[in-house]
Amino acid sequence: VTVDSPQALQPEAFRHVIGHFASGVTVITTRDAQAPLGTTASALSSLSLEPPTLLVCMNTASATGRAVAASGLFAVNILSEDQAEVALTFARKGGDKFRSVSWSTGGTGMPLLDGALATLECRVVDQACGGTHVVFIARVERAVAHPGAPLAYFRGRFVRLSLAPDKLEPS
Ligand SMILES: Cc1cc2nc3c(=O)[nH]c(=O)nc-3n(C[C@H](O)[C@H](O)[C@H](O)COP(=O)(O)O)c2cc1C
Repeated sequence: VTVDSPQALQPEAFRHVIGHFASGVTVITTRDAQAPLGTTASALSSLSLEPPTLLVCMNTASATGRAVAASGLFAVNILSEDQAEVALTFARKGGDKFRSVSWSTGGTGMPLLDGALATLECRVVDQACGGTHVVFIARVERAVAHPGAPLAYFRGRFVRLSLAPDKLEPS
């Protein structure tokens, strides 16, 4: 697909082209008064090291996003390469998504999924609107990483990464 005129850019064309930007896959978890909530999200970015800050973009229609706005707390669960089923489970709407996974409660009270490659517990410090989505800017209060390989997402599919040759590593 080639689009070079801004007026001509349709949402589906944008989805197709931006889908060439490979990402990891996360489950953003939080809680409301009753229960844990979670949604699959790939729109995550590190924002600042000092202080440790990240951002995540969540649809205003997301029940999880609304609970994040209310509680000001969430956890990022970076999925391992064997967790594509978990990604699909948390990409559904409604129901108890936590029934089919094992999880624990982190130090900030947020649900942490067993088997995640890494978890980061975050506190919202700012938010901004962008089209259908809200950008949550959040301080990272706790972060844990485990050995393993990530689940990745590219052109609408889950993929696995392979390492580039050593001599091409960034310094
Ligand atoms: C690979 C993948 C990545 C996704 N990334 C996001 C995202 O970054 N932000 C978002 O709001 N929804 C994203 N979604 C869609 C949500 O997971 C989906 O709308 C979910 O049903 C929302 O659930 P909730 O309303 O219970 O929070 C993604 C879905 C998939 C499969």
